[in-house]
Amino acid sequence: MMASVVRALLILLCMRNIPQAAGVQVLPPVNFTLTVSALAQVLLHWKPNPEQEHRNCTIRYDVKILSPEPEEYDTGKTHSVRSVALHNGFSARVRTLLLHSDLQLGSEWVKGELPPLPGAPETSVTNLSCVTQITIAGTVSLHCSWLPGQGAPEDTKYFLFYRYGTYTEECHSYVKDKWNRNTKCSFAGTHIDPEQVDSLVAVHINGSSKHAAIKPFQQLFQQNAIEKVNVPRNISVSLEQNNLLATWEKPISPFPAECFEYEFYFINLKSGNKQTLRMSSNSFRLRIDGTSRYSIQIRANHHVHCGRGFWSNWSESVCVGQNKLESSISWILTVLCVSMSCTFLLTTLICKINHIWSKLFPPIPTPSNKFRDPFPTDYERARTCTSDTETECGSFAEDLYCSVLDDSVF
Ligand SMILES: *[C@@H]1O[C@H](CO)[C@@H](O)[C@H](O)[C@H]1NC(C)=O
Ligand SMILES: *[C@@H]1O[C@H](CO)[C@@H](O)[C@H](O)[C@H]1NC(C)=O
Ligand SMILES: *[C@@H]1O[C@H](CO)[C@@H](O)[C@H](O)[C@H]1NC(C)=O
Repeated sequence: MMASVVRALLILLCMRNIPQAAGVQVLPPVNFTLTVSALAQVLLHWKPNPEQEHRNCTIRYDVKILSPEPEEYDTGKTHSVRSVALHNGFSARVRTLLLHSDLQLGSEWVKGELPPLPGAPETSVTNLSCVTQITIAGTVSLHCSWLPGQGAPEDTKYFLFYRYGTYTEECHSYVKDKWNRNTKCSFAGTHIDPEQVDSLVAVHINGSSKHAAIKPFQQLFQQNAIEKVNVPRNISVSLEQNNLLATWEKPISPFPAECFEYEFYFINLKSGNKQTLRMSSNSFRLRIDGTSRYSIQIRANHHVHCGRGFWSNWSESVCVGQNKLESSISWILTVLCVSMSCTFLLTTLICKINHIWSKLFPPIPTPSNKFRDPFPTDYERARTCTSDTETECGSFAEDLYCSVLDDSVF
């Protein structure tokens, strides 16, 4: 009912000077074609219906993508390019729209389809994940990993390609699984523009095998969503009375400092208390307990408005402060260790001398086994400062202790 009123009005408005206007119809576009124009990219193309009359009306086209992901839009052009994973096929339809101010009338739909990419079931890769990182040179590296399909024969060889805009490149640096199948790929540099965070990175993985046709797999990644942000730089931590002062620089990135936020993780090594704070500034002041030693780590990410990525790795831990109790324990342990080592060396020396006598007398058991056990336990206990980076946090006492130990036992 409504449609026929609109039709009558439109015909009146658009075709009022045409005597035979009563017979005018909205006709569907012709020669609708779908073409794969690049990896994971399809070109939709159609022609205006040559019979269509419009005069004072505007002609537009309604496009409806049905699969793999439903999407609907209208356009005044007769073509449209979409980036989309095509391994499971693609289908879309288009129709003509006749418009006059707020009134519009649509034609019948015409449909187009691309078949799924050929290959045996379950031979496609699964669990594809990709990560980009901005290098010191300012380019973007790309790393992808995946699992071979459940149905992929053992001789399957997978090949990875990425497309960025119009540029396509094949991977030449793979890591293989135990059956010699490629499961990881790295590009040390790519054509990905580090500043275009909204762009898409298309990944295509196909393969070959003597025993089966390997079905290709495609996935599109939003550029910023797969960026692994770099670690903050030049972290410096100092103490000012009972205040801990930390400053650092933004990670290697073309983005301005305002684009970053940080997480600050610190452990009181005496009490074992841990805390994480999130902040936007790149300096930090915190009131602390002056008798404790602290371990500090920082990591970075983009703010949401600059396109959030993956959190960077944690920086190496930096230790500050004096742990009064802790250092006296270290000294006791060091003295204990040195004296035990001396005893051990003396015993070994005595044993060596005795060895000459053992040819004359029956051999006596050496006491070295008795001493071997207690060392590793004490060794672990002495290194309470940090588990990740002994180098940053290790004290002189520990180093002395460890080298004495290493020399004497092994
Ligand atoms: C549509 O395609 C047919 C066959 O390829 C061609 O003859 C015809 O001219 C095309 N129509 C238009 C409007 O381009
Ligand atoms: C692969 O992905 C599936 C489905 O997303 C998940 O259930 C599975 O745990 C993943 N396997 C591995 C090894 O990550
Ligand atoms: C894999 O895809 C690329 C890019 O489309 C193509 O050039 C290559 O021939 C394909 N390889 C196989 C084994 O299908």
